[in-house]
Amino acid sequence: MSFKVNYKVTWVGIKDWELRDFHGDEYSTHRGTTYNSYLIRDEKTVLIDTVWMPFAKEYIERLKKEIDLDEIDYIIANHGEIDHSGALVELMREIPNTPIYCTKAAINSIKGHYHQDWNFVEVKTGDELNIGKSKLVFIEAKMLHWPDSMFTYMTKDNMLFSNDAFGQHYVSDPMFNDLVNEEELYQEAIKYYANILTPFSPLVTRKIKEVLDFKLPVDMICTSHGVIWRDNPVQIIEKYLEWADGYQENQITLIYDSMWHGTRRMAEAIAEGIKDVEKDTRIKLFNGAKTDKNDILTEVFKSKAVLIGSSTVNNGLLYSISGLLEMMKGMKYKNKKFAAFGSYGWSGEGIKIINDELKDAKYDVVNEGIRELWNPDDVQIERCKNFGKDFAEKIK
Ligand code: FEO
Repeated sequence: MSFKVNYKVTWVGIKDWELRDFHGDEYSTHRGTTYNSYLIRDEKTVLIDTVWMPFAKEYIERLKKEIDLDEIDYIIANHGEIDHSGALVELMREIPNTPIYCTKAAINSIKGHYHQDWNFVEVKTGDELNIGKSKLVFIEAKMLHWPDSMFTYMTKDNMLFSNDAFGQHYVSDPMFNDLVNEEELYQEAIKYYANILTPFSPLVTRKIKEVLDFKLPVDMICTSHGVIWRDNPVQIIEKYLEWADGYQENQITLIYDSMWHGTRRMAEAIAEGIKDVEKDTRIKLFNGAKTDKNDILTEVFKSKAVLIGSSTVNNGLLYSISGLLEMMKGMKYKNKKFAAFGSYGWSGEGIKIINDELKDAKYDVVNEGIRELWNPDDVQIERCKNFGKDFAEKIK
């Protein structure tokens, strides 16, 4: 149901408590998500963003209980992706001439999705729309995270409608940052950053600095997913600046997949060796086939070093490791060291393939890795421990 964000803005989105996979199967949503849509009532009435298509009818029915749709003067589409533009078809059927304010790229993406020639009004950074006591100021946010993304800032109330930026796939009730579980909130916020925004980190920094240069006070950040940041909203801006700047914690992560436990035993021995040198470092091990891929990527994002292991199978890698490498390649993580390991029985090219993939992604691979034949015996396990020690010394 809708709720008041403040005296002038009402949340009219959808809470999706059931969602467990987003973007197809690309992003796991253990805690559901929300599609946030906002109704601003000033002298003019403005609707900011809509919801994902499967909820379109439900959304329109609820919106009609909140307002006569004919009273909506302007629609703002901060981003054309279907989770926010998905109800436009239903909405525009009801109010076909209402102008839709968005970037030029969003006109293209929205037309590309729905093939409709609605009443689009193209806006650029700095353009303003007077809605009465407040003005809406548009700020293009190209590649945060699509070419069409933009922020909308409402003067007087100092509210930033940031769309995906500063969001989380997280549903909780109520939906204000000061009223949800803080640990859950930050876990979902960093996962969102680590799995969606890291490729664009240089742009994140530049855009935040640009917004700060506008010297617009921000009292509230209304995202398109998850909570509304009303208590010290600058905290998430500061976190983004930190995350965008080669973020790492004192953590080393080992990710592996193993056919008959040989590579698993190597991982544990390497971790033991690392521990001998890095006594205060948090070390985490994950079997890539048994742990959620996006949770693993979040751990990679937090790490200062990552070791990746796979048994060699059919002259290649195990499926889970290939998939994770592909995802890591796209994420372009910064400020991390890498190495490869794995067991084999015949040809043993697994570690070379891992190294090639990592180097192809321009990651810093500190050595040629370690491979062991068949199931490691005591001598081989000792060699793995020494490899771990040597790796830890090298990354100091
Ligand atoms: Fe939440 Fe890029 O859509």
